[in-house]
Amino acid sequence: MAKSESTPPQPSKKSRITVPGFSALKQSGHKIAMITAYDYPLARLVDEAGVEGVLVGDSMSMVVQGHENTLPVTLDEMIYHAEMVGRAVNHALVVVDMPFPSYHLGIHKAIENAGRILKETRCQAVKLEGGADQAETIHALVSAGIPVMAHCGLRPQSVHQLGGYRVQRDEKALLHDARSAAEAGAFAMVLECVPSDIAQRITEKVSIPTIGIGAGPDCDGQVLVLHDVLGLASDYMPRFVKQYANLQAEITSAVKNYCTEVRNGQFPGPEHGYS
Ligand code: KIV
Repeated sequence: MAKSESTPPQPSKKSRITVPGFSALKQSGHKIAMITAYDYPLARLVDEAGVEGVLVGDSMSMVVQGHENTLPVTLDEMIYHAEMVGRAVNHALVVVDMPFPSYHLGIHKAIENAGRILKETRCQAVKLEGGADQAETIHALVSAGIPVMAHCGLRPQSVHQLGGYRVQRDEKALLHDARSAAEAGAFAMVLECVPSDIAQRITEKVSIPTIGIGAGPDCDGQVLVLHDVLGLASDYMPRFVKQYANLQAEITSAVKNYCTEVRNGQFPGPEHGYS
């Protein structure tokens, strides 16, 4: 048997993680760490820190553009940011969110829009919100050679229909969505705001990796929004976020120091000038 058939794929610091390699992490038992990024410098840092997946999320609409939900961001804006991320990342798999309603206007339009993402960025896959309801679109994209990550559970693009960001507890519907997405050819799925015990059972029952956000410890991996992790987002923090740094305080303090030094003549010093 060839080495590649007998050795389960392991993430390596040197090589690029592929879509099949990402899916295979489930069987190897390696927990997948995924995080969002939206520009070159931060995408480079998260890649160098060793995540397996980088998501150019439509959360950009909120944490970068300052909108109140994920609905306003456009396909052109997603592509503009995905290009920066694609240029920065050399190791992780990069997945780009299809914004609302770029995959709701028929299969032809969905392929055209997802195709643009793959053609115009160095990113490898798209993500769309849906399970059973999007199975036909997922199948069509995958048949066109476009890898798809599904997004089940809470779907932020449906915030108005859901009446808010609520935990999703209908196990039968969630399992149906997860199975339908996997059968349609999705290579992985996000599970958002699902009780931990339900997420665990779904993870056991589907063959593709589940990437949880507010879905407990038993998913195959986790994803968080980078600005939440770094303490760069607004004051409201969902329960599922763990903040690992407080860059908001660091940045404010650094800029305050700069202002003070400009005003009292401490900056620029002789070492910052030319003779
Ligand atoms: O847009 C995003 O950042 C996401 C994650 C929260 C999963 O979809």
